[in-house]
Amino acid sequence: MSKIALGVTGGIGAYKAVEGARGLQKAGHDVVVVMTRAATEFVGPLTFEAITRHRVITGQFEPGANADIEHIALASSIDLLLVAPATANIIGKFAGGIADDFLCSLYLATRAPVLLAPAMNSNMWAHDAVQGNLRTLRARGAAIVEPGEGFLACGWVGPGRLAEPPEIVAAAEAIVRPAQTLSGRHVLVSGGPTYEDIDPVRFVGNRSSGRMGYAVAAEAARRGASVTLVSGPTQIPAPEGVDLVRVRSAREMHEAVVSRVAGADVVVMAAAVADYAPIRAAGKIAKDGDELVLRMTRTPDILAELGSRRAAGEWPRTLLVGFAAETSDVVARAGDKRRRKQVDLIVANDVSGDDRGFDTEENAVTLIAADGEDELTLRPKADVARAILDRVERMLPRLAGTAQPAAAGGE
Ligand code: PMT
Repeated sequence: MSKIALGVTGGIGAYKAVEGARGLQKAGHDVVVVMTRAATEFVGPLTFEAITRHRVITGQFEPGANADIEHIALASSIDLLLVAPATANIIGKFAGGIADDFLCSLYLATRAPVLLAPAMNSNMWAHDAVQGNLRTLRARGAAIVEPGEGFLACGWVGPGRLAEPPEIVAAAEAIVRPAQTLSGRHVLVSGGPTYEDIDPVRFVGNRSSGRMGYAVAAEAARRGASVTLVSGPTQIPAPEGVDLVRVRSAREMHEAVVSRVAGADVVVMAAAVADYAPIRAAGKIAKDGDELVLRMTRTPDILAELGSRRAAGEWPRTLLVGFAAETSDVVARAGDKRRRKQVDLIVANDVSGDDRGFDTEENAVTLIAADGEDELTLRPKADVARAILDRVERMLPRLAGTAQPAAAGGE
Protein backbone atom coordinates (compact mmCIF):
# COMPACT_ATOMS: atom_id res chain seq x y z
CA MET A 1 0.00 0.00 0.00
CA SER A 2 1.29 3.45 -0.90
CA LYS A 3 0.37 6.78 0.61
CA ILE A 4 -0.77 9.18 -2.09
CA ALA A 5 -1.48 12.88 -1.64
CA LEU A 6 -4.19 13.82 -4.13
CA GLY A 7 -4.14 17.54 -4.89
CA VAL A 8 -7.42 18.84 -6.27
CA THR A 9 -7.45 22.28 -7.86
CA GLY A 10 -10.21 24.55 -9.09
CA GLY A 11 -11.50 23.17 -12.37
CA ILE A 12 -14.73 21.54 -13.43
CA GLY A 13 -12.83 18.23 -13.63
CA ALA A 14 -12.66 18.28 -9.80
CA TYR A 15 -15.75 16.07 -9.74
CA LYS A 16 -13.78 13.37 -11.57
CA ALA A 17 -11.15 13.51 -8.82
CA VAL A 18 -13.75 11.94 -6.52
CA GLU A 19 -13.82 8.86 -8.75
CA GLY A 20 -10.01 9.01 -8.96
CA ALA A 21 -9.71 9.00 -5.17
CA ARG A 22 -12.07 6.02 -5.02
CA GLY A 23 -10.06 4.17 -7.71
CA LEU A 24 -6.79 4.74 -5.86
CA GLN A 25 -8.35 3.50 -2.67
CA LYS A 26 -9.77 0.43 -4.38
CA ALA A 27 -6.25 -0.29 -5.66
CA GLY A 28 -5.20 -0.45 -2.01
CA HIS A 29 -3.65 2.99 -1.51
CA ASP A 30 -4.05 5.37 1.39
CA VAL A 31 -5.23 8.69 -0.06
CA VAL A 32 -4.94 12.10 1.61
CA VAL A 33 -6.73 14.87 -0.27
CA VAL A 34 -5.40 18.42 -0.41
CA MET A 35 -7.80 20.95 -1.97
CA THR A 36 -7.07 24.48 -3.07
CA ARG A 37 -9.60 27.12 -2.08
CA ALA A 38 -10.88 27.27 -5.68
CA ALA A 39 -11.39 23.49 -5.75
CA THR A 40 -13.79 23.72 -2.82
CA GLU A 41 -16.04 25.88 -5.04
CA PHE A 42 -16.54 22.84 -7.29
CA VAL A 43 -16.69 19.92 -4.85
CA GLY A 44 -17.17 19.89 -1.09
CA PRO A 45 -14.32 18.56 1.08
CA LEU A 46 -16.83 16.34 2.89
CA THR A 47 -17.23 14.21 -0.24
CA PHE A 48 -13.51 13.38 -0.25
CA GLU A 49 -13.46 12.99 3.51
CA ALA A 50 -16.21 10.35 3.37
CA ILE A 51 -14.30 8.40 0.72
CA THR A 52 -10.77 8.65 2.09
CA ARG A 53 -11.63 8.65 5.81
CA HIS A 54 -9.02 11.35 6.30
CA ARG A 55 -9.42 14.99 7.11
CA VAL A 56 -9.23 16.94 3.84
CA ILE A 57 -6.59 19.65 3.93
CA THR A 58 -7.96 22.88 2.51
CA GLY A 59 -5.63 25.56 3.81
CA GLN A 60 -2.19 26.41 5.05
CA PHE A 61 -3.44 28.13 8.16
CA GLU A 62 -6.26 25.90 9.37
CA PRO A 63 -6.36 25.36 13.13
CA GLY A 64 -4.28 22.26 13.84
CA ALA A 65 -2.59 22.29 10.44
CA ASN A 66 0.56 23.91 11.77
CA ALA A 67 0.92 22.02 15.02
CA ASP A 68 3.36 19.61 13.37
CA ILE A 69 4.11 21.76 10.32
CA GLU A 70 1.73 19.55 8.38
CA HIS A 71 2.95 20.13 4.84
CA ILE A 72 6.42 19.03 5.90
CA ALA A 73 5.08 16.00 7.78
CA LEU A 74 2.91 14.99 4.82
CA ALA A 75 5.69 15.76 2.33
CA SER A 76 8.03 13.27 3.92
CA SER A 77 5.47 10.49 4.35
CA ILE A 78 3.92 10.25 0.86
CA ASP A 79 4.97 7.97 -2.00
CA LEU A 80 3.35 10.13 -4.68
CA LEU A 81 1.94 13.62 -5.12
CA LEU A 82 -0.83 13.44 -7.72
CA VAL A 83 -2.64 16.60 -8.80
CA ALA A 84 -5.90 16.04 -10.70
CA PRO A 85 -7.18 18.24 -12.12
CA ALA A 86 -4.10 20.45 -12.41
CA THR A 87 -5.10 23.92 -13.59
CA ALA A 88 -2.86 26.29 -15.57
CA ASN A 89 -2.58 28.26 -12.33
CA ILE A 90 -1.16 25.44 -10.19
CA ILE A 91 1.15 24.34 -13.03
CA GLY A 92 2.51 27.91 -13.18
CA LYS A 93 2.92 28.10 -9.41
CA PHE A 94 4.74 24.76 -9.23
CA ALA A 95 7.02 25.80 -12.09
CA GLY A 96 7.73 29.17 -10.47
CA GLY A 97 8.33 27.81 -6.98
CA ILE A 98 5.51 29.83 -5.40
CA ALA A 99 4.41 28.58 -1.97
CA ASP A 100 1.31 30.58 -1.10
CA ASP A 101 -0.96 27.66 -0.22
CA PHE A 102 -0.73 24.19 1.24
CA LEU A 103 -0.54 22.32 -2.10
CA CYS A 104 2.26 24.51 -3.49
CA SER A 105 4.22 24.19 -0.24
CA LEU A 106 3.72 20.43 -0.35
CA TYR A 107 5.09 20.33 -3.93
CA LEU A 108 8.23 22.19 -2.85
CA ALA A 109 8.70 20.19 0.33
CA THR A 110 8.25 16.66 -0.98
CA ARG A 111 10.84 14.45 -2.64
CA ALA A 112 8.13 11.98 -3.73
CA PRO A 113 7.43 11.57 -7.47
CA VAL A 114 4.95 14.06 -8.89
CA LEU A 115 2.17 13.23 -11.36
CA LEU A 116 -0.01 15.93 -12.90
CA ALA A 117 -3.26 15.50 -14.80
CA PRO A 118 -3.84 18.92 -16.42
CA ALA A 119 -7.28 20.17 -17.41
CA MET A 120 -8.11 23.53 -18.94
CA ASN A 121 -9.47 25.34 -21.99
CA SER A 122 -7.75 24.33 -25.29
CA ASN A 123 -6.18 27.73 -25.92
CA MET A 124 -4.84 27.86 -22.38
CA TRP A 125 -3.41 24.35 -22.85
CA ALA A 126 -1.72 25.38 -26.12
CA HIS A 127 -0.32 28.64 -24.69
CA ASP A 128 3.48 28.90 -24.66
CA ALA A 129 3.40 29.88 -20.98
CA VAL A 130 1.61 26.69 -19.97
CA GLN A 131 3.68 24.47 -22.26
CA GLY A 132 6.88 26.17 -21.04
CA ASN A 133 5.87 25.55 -17.43
CA LEU A 134 5.12 21.91 -18.21
CA ARG A 135 8.55 21.54 -19.83
CA THR A 136 10.11 22.93 -16.64
CA LEU A 137 8.15 20.50 -14.49
CA ARG A 138 8.93 17.55 -16.76
CA ALA A 139 12.60 18.47 -16.66
CA ARG A 140 12.40 18.25 -12.86
CA GLY A 141 11.00 14.75 -13.21
CA ALA A 142 7.23 15.31 -13.00
CA ALA A 143 5.12 12.91 -15.06
CA ILE A 144 2.07 14.17 -16.95
CA VAL A 145 -1.19 12.40 -17.81
CA GLU A 146 -2.05 14.24 -21.02
CA PRO A 147 -5.54 15.73 -21.19
CA GLY A 148 -8.01 14.22 -23.61
CA GLU A 149 -9.74 15.90 -26.56
CA GLY A 150 -13.42 16.54 -26.70
CA PHE A 151 -16.25 18.78 -25.63
CA LEU A 152 -15.03 21.05 -22.82
CA ALA A 153 -17.13 22.55 -20.05
CA CYS A 154 -16.46 26.02 -21.48
CA GLY A 155 -18.25 24.99 -24.69
CA TRP A 156 -15.09 24.59 -26.79
CA VAL A 157 -14.06 21.41 -28.50
CA GLY A 158 -10.37 20.43 -28.38
CA PRO A 159 -7.60 19.20 -26.08
CA GLY A 160 -7.84 20.11 -22.40
CA ARG A 161 -10.33 17.69 -20.91
CA LEU A 162 -9.12 15.94 -17.75
CA ALA A 163 -8.02 12.36 -18.50
CA GLU A 164 -10.49 9.73 -17.34
CA PRO A 165 -10.06 8.51 -13.74
CA PRO A 166 -9.00 4.92 -14.69
CA GLU A 167 -6.21 6.38 -16.86
CA ILE A 168 -5.06 8.60 -13.98
CA VAL A 169 -5.17 5.71 -11.52
CA ALA A 170 -3.17 3.52 -13.95
CA ALA A 171 -0.51 6.26 -14.32
CA ALA A 172 -0.28 6.56 -10.53
CA GLU A 173 -0.03 2.79 -10.17
CA ALA A 174 2.78 2.64 -12.74
CA ILE A 175 4.76 5.06 -10.55
CA VAL A 176 4.11 3.61 -7.10
CA ARG A 177 4.01 -0.02 -8.18
CA PRO A 178 6.31 -0.39 -11.21
CA ALA A 179 6.49 -3.81 -12.86
CA GLN A 180 9.32 -5.76 -11.23
CA THR A 181 10.87 -6.60 -14.58
CA LEU A 182 14.43 -6.77 -13.21
CA SER A 183 13.58 -8.78 -10.14
CA GLY A 184 16.27 -11.39 -9.48
CA ARG A 185 18.82 -9.45 -11.55
CA HIS A 186 21.92 -7.71 -10.23
CA VAL A 187 22.75 -4.39 -11.86
CA LEU A 188 26.09 -2.67 -11.29
CA VAL A 189 26.14 1.02 -12.17
CA SER A 190 28.91 3.61 -12.04
CA GLY A 191 28.17 7.32 -11.82
CA GLY A 192 29.74 10.68 -11.09
CA PRO A 193 33.23 12.03 -11.71
CA THR A 194 36.59 10.85 -10.49
CA TYR A 195 39.05 13.12 -8.72
CA GLU A 196 42.73 12.62 -9.40
CA ASP A 197 45.08 14.13 -6.86
CA ILE A 198 47.84 16.50 -7.94
CA ASP A 199 49.26 16.85 -4.44
CA PRO A 200 47.77 16.55 -0.92
CA VAL A 201 45.48 19.57 -1.44
CA ARG A 202 44.69 19.79 -5.18
CA PHE A 203 43.01 17.51 -7.67
CA VAL A 204 41.87 17.29 -11.30
CA GLY A 205 38.17 16.43 -11.77
CA ASN A 206 35.32 16.88 -14.22
CA ARG A 207 31.82 18.33 -14.25
CA SER A 208 29.83 15.10 -13.85
CA SER A 209 27.13 15.58 -11.20
CA GLY A 210 26.27 11.88 -10.97
CA ARG A 211 22.64 12.50 -11.99
CA MET A 212 22.71 10.23 -15.05
CA GLY A 213 24.25 7.23 -13.28
CA TYR A 214 22.09 7.76 -10.18
CA ALA A 215 18.97 7.87 -12.39
CA VAL A 216 19.90 4.51 -13.96
CA ALA A 217 20.54 3.03 -10.51
CA ALA A 218 17.23 4.38 -9.14
CA GLU A 219 15.25 3.05 -12.09
CA ALA A 220 16.89 -0.39 -11.90
CA ALA A 221 16.02 -0.55 -8.18
CA ARG A 222 12.41 0.49 -8.93
CA ARG A 223 12.22 -2.41 -11.38
CA GLY A 224 13.22 -4.83 -8.62
CA ALA A 225 16.93 -5.31 -9.39
CA SER A 226 19.50 -5.53 -6.64
CA VAL A 227 21.66 -2.55 -7.47
CA THR A 228 25.23 -1.60 -6.62
CA LEU A 229 26.13 1.99 -7.43
CA VAL A 230 29.84 2.79 -7.54
CA SER A 231 29.97 6.55 -7.29
CA GLY A 232 32.64 9.17 -7.60
CA PRO A 233 32.33 12.28 -5.41
CA THR A 234 28.86 13.85 -5.83
CA GLN A 235 26.51 16.16 -3.96
CA ILE A 236 23.29 14.29 -4.69
CA PRO A 237 21.51 11.84 -2.37
CA ALA A 238 21.84 8.11 -2.99
CA PRO A 239 18.75 6.53 -4.56
CA GLU A 240 16.65 4.45 -2.20
CA GLY A 241 17.31 0.73 -2.03
CA VAL A 242 20.71 0.92 -3.69
CA ASP A 243 24.01 -0.35 -2.28
CA LEU A 244 26.26 2.71 -2.59
CA VAL A 245 30.03 2.31 -2.85
CA ARG A 246 31.87 5.62 -2.72
CA VAL A 247 35.18 6.03 -4.50
CA ARG A 248 37.35 8.99 -5.42
CA SER A 249 39.83 8.21 -8.16
CA ALA A 250 39.77 6.22 -11.41
CA ARG A 251 41.97 3.59 -9.75
CA GLU A 252 39.53 3.22 -6.86
CA MET A 253 36.61 3.02 -9.29
CA HIS A 254 38.46 0.36 -11.30
CA GLU A 255 39.01 -1.73 -8.17
CA ALA A 256 35.41 -1.25 -6.94
CA VAL A 257 33.82 -2.14 -10.30
CA VAL A 258 36.05 -5.02 -11.38
CA SER A 259 35.78 -6.73 -7.99
CA ARG A 260 31.97 -6.65 -8.24
CA VAL A 261 31.32 -7.75 -11.83
CA ALA A 262 31.05 -11.46 -11.03
CA GLY A 263 27.34 -12.13 -10.53
CA ALA A 264 26.20 -8.93 -12.24
CA ASP A 265 23.65 -9.38 -15.03
CA VAL A 266 24.23 -5.86 -16.28
CA VAL A 267 27.00 -3.29 -15.87
CA VAL A 268 26.23 0.32 -16.82
CA MET A 269 29.26 2.62 -16.88
CA ALA A 270 27.79 6.13 -16.72
CA ALA A 271 30.70 7.55 -14.72
CA ALA A 272 32.98 10.16 -16.23
CA VAL A 273 36.25 8.42 -15.43
CA ALA A 274 39.48 10.38 -15.80
CA ASP A 275 41.60 9.10 -18.67
CA TYR A 276 44.80 10.51 -17.18
CA ALA A 277 45.89 11.12 -13.60
CA PRO A 278 48.69 13.39 -12.44
CA ILE A 279 51.75 11.84 -10.87
CA ARG A 280 50.88 12.84 -7.30
CA ALA A 281 53.41 15.03 -5.49
CA ALA A 282 54.11 13.95 -1.90
CA GLY A 283 53.95 17.52 -0.56
CA LYS A 284 51.99 20.61 -1.57
CA ILE A 285 53.46 21.99 -4.80
CA ALA A 286 54.89 25.44 -4.12
CA LYS A 287 53.83 28.41 -6.23
CA ASP A 288 57.10 29.39 -7.92
CA GLY A 289 57.18 30.33 -11.57
CA ASP A 290 54.50 31.43 -14.06
CA GLU A 291 53.76 27.97 -15.33
CA LEU A 292 53.11 24.63 -13.75
CA VAL A 293 53.62 21.52 -15.85
CA LEU A 294 51.81 18.41 -14.68
CA ARG A 295 52.94 14.96 -15.77
CA MET A 296 50.03 12.59 -16.13
CA THR A 297 49.75 8.87 -16.74
CA ARG A 298 46.93 6.80 -18.24
CA THR A 299 44.35 5.41 -15.87
CA PRO A 300 42.91 1.92 -16.36
CA ASP A 301 40.08 1.89 -18.91
CA ILE A 302 37.53 0.02 -16.82
CA LEU A 303 34.94 -0.55 -19.54
CA ALA A 304 37.50 -1.70 -22.10
CA GLU A 305 38.90 -4.14 -19.55
CA LEU A 306 35.43 -5.55 -18.84
CA GLY A 307 34.84 -5.95 -22.59
CA SER A 308 38.10 -7.73 -23.28
CA ARG A 309 37.88 -10.00 -20.22
CA ARG A 310 34.35 -10.96 -21.19
CA ALA A 311 35.48 -11.68 -24.76
CA ALA A 312 38.12 -13.95 -23.20
CA GLY A 313 35.41 -15.92 -21.45
CA GLU A 314 35.01 -14.23 -18.06
CA TRP A 315 31.51 -13.09 -17.03
CA PRO A 316 29.89 -14.50 -20.22
CA ARG A 317 26.36 -13.64 -19.08
CA THR A 318 27.04 -10.02 -18.16
CA LEU A 319 25.55 -7.39 -20.44
CA LEU A 320 27.89 -4.41 -20.79
CA VAL A 321 26.58 -0.89 -21.30
CA GLY A 322 28.88 2.07 -21.77
CA PHE A 323 28.39 5.78 -22.33
CA ALA A 324 30.34 7.84 -24.84
CA ALA A 325 30.65 11.56 -24.12
CA GLU A 326 31.44 13.26 -27.42
CA THR A 327 31.39 16.78 -28.83
CA SER A 328 31.54 16.00 -32.58
CA ASP A 329 30.63 13.08 -34.90
CA VAL A 330 28.86 11.83 -31.82
CA VAL A 331 27.10 8.75 -33.16
CA ALA A 332 29.98 7.60 -35.38
CA ARG A 333 32.56 7.98 -32.61
CA ALA A 334 30.29 6.30 -30.07
CA GLY A 335 29.70 3.40 -32.47
CA ASP A 336 33.49 3.01 -32.78
CA LYS A 337 33.81 3.04 -29.00
CA ARG A 338 31.20 0.30 -28.72
CA ARG A 339 33.16 -1.96 -31.05
CA ARG A 340 36.56 -1.08 -29.61
CA LYS A 341 35.49 -1.59 -26.00
CA GLN A 342 33.50 -4.71 -26.98
CA VAL A 343 30.28 -3.74 -25.24
CA ASP A 344 26.67 -4.56 -26.11
CA LEU A 345 25.13 -1.13 -25.87
CA ILE A 346 26.63 2.34 -25.92
CA VAL A 347 24.81 5.50 -24.97
CA ALA A 348 26.09 8.22 -27.28
CA ASN A 349 25.96 11.48 -25.35
CA ASP A 350 26.43 14.76 -27.19
CA VAL A 351 27.99 16.92 -24.47
CA SER A 352 28.63 19.98 -26.61
CA GLY A 353 25.55 21.94 -25.41
CA ASP A 354 24.79 23.54 -22.03
CA ASP A 355 21.36 21.88 -21.80
CA ARG A 356 22.46 18.24 -21.83
CA GLY A 357 25.19 15.89 -20.67
CA PHE A 358 27.34 17.10 -17.78
CA ASP A 359 25.67 18.63 -14.72
CA THR A 360 22.23 19.15 -16.27
CA GLU A 361 18.77 17.85 -15.38
CA GLU A 362 18.10 16.63 -18.93
CA ASN A 363 19.91 14.61 -21.53
CA ALA A 364 19.63 13.73 -25.22
CA VAL A 365 21.32 10.51 -26.31
CA THR A 366 21.40 7.84 -29.00
CA LEU A 367 21.34 4.21 -27.92
CA ILE A 368 23.60 2.16 -30.19
CA ALA A 369 23.59 -1.63 -30.25
CA ALA A 370 24.52 -4.21 -32.89
CA ASP A 371 20.92 -4.31 -34.11
CA GLY A 372 20.35 -0.59 -34.55
CA GLU A 373 20.11 2.88 -33.07
CA ASP A 374 17.43 4.72 -31.06
CA GLU A 375 17.60 8.48 -30.86
CA LEU A 376 16.15 10.00 -27.68
CA THR A 377 15.39 13.71 -27.83
CA LEU A 378 16.06 16.01 -24.87
CA ARG A 379 14.24 14.73 -21.75
CA PRO A 380 14.75 14.32 -17.99
CA LYS A 381 17.57 11.95 -17.05
CA ALA A 382 15.00 9.73 -15.29
CA ASP A 383 13.28 9.21 -18.67
CA VAL A 384 16.62 8.51 -20.38
CA ALA A 385 17.34 5.93 -17.65
CA ARG A 386 13.96 4.28 -18.32
CA ALA A 387 14.69 4.06 -22.05
CA ILE A 388 18.16 2.59 -21.43
CA LEU A 389 16.74 -0.08 -19.13
CA ASP A 390 13.88 -0.85 -21.54
CA ARG A 391 16.52 -1.56 -24.18
CA VAL A 392 18.65 -3.53 -21.70
CA GLU A 393 15.62 -5.66 -20.78
CA ARG A 394 15.06 -6.50 -24.44
CA MET A 395 18.71 -7.59 -24.75
CA LEU A 396 18.92 -9.57 -21.50
CA PRO A 397 17.06 -12.75 -22.51
CA ARG A 398 19.11 -13.00 -25.68
CA LEU A 399 22.28 -13.04 -23.63
CA ALA A 400 21.06 -15.63 -21.15
CA GLY A 401 23.17 -18.72 -21.69
CA THR A 402 24.94 -17.39 -24.77
CA ALA A 403 27.13 -14.36 -24.53
CA GLN A 404 27.02 -12.21 -27.62
CA PRO A 405 29.72 -9.62 -27.15
CA ALA A 406 30.14 -7.12 -29.95
CA ALA A 407 32.93 -8.00 -32.34
CA ALA A 408 36.23 -6.39 -31.48
CA GLY A 409 37.31 -3.75 -33.94
CA GLY A 410 40.42 -1.62 -34.12
CA GLU A 411 40.62 2.11 -34.42
O1 PMT B 1 26.87 12.90 -14.15
P1 PMT B 1 26.01 13.83 -15.00
O2 PMT B 1 26.23 15.28 -14.66
O3 PMT B 1 24.57 13.42 -14.98
O4 PMT B 1 26.54 13.69 -16.51
C1 PMT B 1 26.31 12.52 -17.23
C2 PMT B 1 27.51 12.15 -18.13
C3 PMT B 1 27.67 13.21 -19.20
C4 PMT B 1 28.79 12.06 -17.29
C5 PMT B 1 27.17 10.74 -18.74
O5 PMT B 1 25.96 10.85 -19.45
C6 PMT B 1 28.27 10.25 -19.64
O6 PMT B 1 28.33 10.55 -20.82
N1 PMT B 1 29.19 9.43 -19.06
C7 PMT B 1 30.39 8.93 -19.74
C8 PMT B 1 31.48 9.97 -19.66
C9 PMT B 1 32.77 9.47 -20.25
O7 PMT B 1 33.74 9.30 -19.53
O8 PMT B 1 32.72 9.17 -21.53
P2 PMT B 1 33.99 8.60 -22.39
O9 PMT B 1 33.53 8.68 -23.78
O10 PMT B 1 35.24 9.30 -22.01
O11 PMT B 1 34.11 7.08 -21.92
C10 PMT B 1 33.49 6.00 -22.59
C11 PMT B 1 33.07 4.93 -21.61
O12 PMT B 1 34.23 4.36 -21.00
C12 PMT B 1 32.19 5.42 -20.48
O13 PMT B 1 31.23 4.43 -20.20
C13 PMT B 1 33.16 5.55 -19.30
O14 PMT B 1 32.50 5.33 -18.06
C14 PMT B 1 34.16 4.45 -19.61
N2 PMT B 1 35.53 4.73 -19.11
C15 PMT B 1 36.22 5.84 -19.52
C16 PMT B 1 37.51 6.04 -19.09
C17 PMT B 1 38.09 5.10 -18.21
N3 PMT B 1 39.33 5.28 -17.74
N4 PMT B 1 37.40 4.02 -17.82
C18 PMT B 1 36.13 3.81 -18.27
O15 PMT B 1 35.50 2.81 -17.91
